[in-house]
Amino acid sequence: MLSIQKLSCSYGQAPVLHDISIEVAAGKVSVILGPNGAGKSTLLKAIMGHMPVVSCQRISVAGGRSLDRLPMHAVARMGVAYVPEGRGILNSLTVLENLQLGLSLLRIRSPKEGAEAALDKVLDSFPMLKDRTHVAAGLLSGGQQQMLAIARALISNPSVLLLDEPSLGLAPLIRLDIARLLREIADSKNVAVLLAEQDITLAQRCADQAYVLRRGRIVAEMAGGELIDRERLRQLYLGSAPAAS
Ligand SMILES: Nc1ncnc2c1ncn2[C@@H]1O[C@H](COP(=O)(O)OP(=O)(O)O)[C@@H](O)[C@H]1O
Ligand SMILES: [Mg+2]
Repeated sequence: MLSIQKLSCSYGQAPVLHDISIEVAAGKVSVILGPNGAGKSTLLKAIMGHMPVVSCQRISVAGGRSLDRLPMHAVARMGVAYVPEGRGILNSLTVLENLQLGLSLLRIRSPKEGAEAALDKVLDSFPMLKDRTHVAAGLLSGGQQQMLAIARALISNPSVLLLDEPSLGLAPLIRLDIARLLREIADSKNVAVLLAEQDITLAQRCADQAYVLRRGRIVAEMAGGELIDRERLRQLYLGSAPAAS
């Protein structure tokens, strides 16, 4: 579904990502794991057209035209939804108003789907939000705000969902709720989920595939089930294990 081939980018003269190639199939969860500063956020921003790309063979959704060098709204229109680091929720707006922000993209992507029906559908999938539609988003807990950010991203019926460290600042049990939710989104909506994370436990709970990113390079690729080998991961993070896939 999402295919990235040989993506490199830099901040000014400083190279940050080197030859990144990643595939995420529909209905699967892939995780980019790596320590702080590895380049995870930069990779998601590059996919979204937020970063100047130095070179790239191709970024595509469902084999369509290449997305690299397209602006963010064009990438979103192609069906890629993005939950940024820090969630991007507007605290002074209500839950419902935050969700309504997702409707403008729905109008472009699925003009026949009515706004009310789309809101009802997403609220049915998130009963916790349904009970709080008129509460200011800033009054929600961190976990609820993350759910709201994910719900908003889903309104436009994306085929790809990108999430930047959804676990940040959340308690371990809430992180597991997020892992369950991402698994369900992939399984029941057939969405290709690409998750940037540092939390190995969350990744292990939901990922089909994992890529370890260190200093802007993918140093290992493994099935989600292999995330159980913490010692190898620790060594990959620190750079003391041989890079292999
Ligand atoms: N706006 C920026 N300008 C220059 N360098 C940046 C900027 N943002 C991030 N970097 C650098 O790019 C590298 C990757 O950062 P980032 O993608 O944020 O990593 P991660 O999300 O894995 O923590 C780091 O070395 C960071 O210092
Ligand atoms: Mg980051």
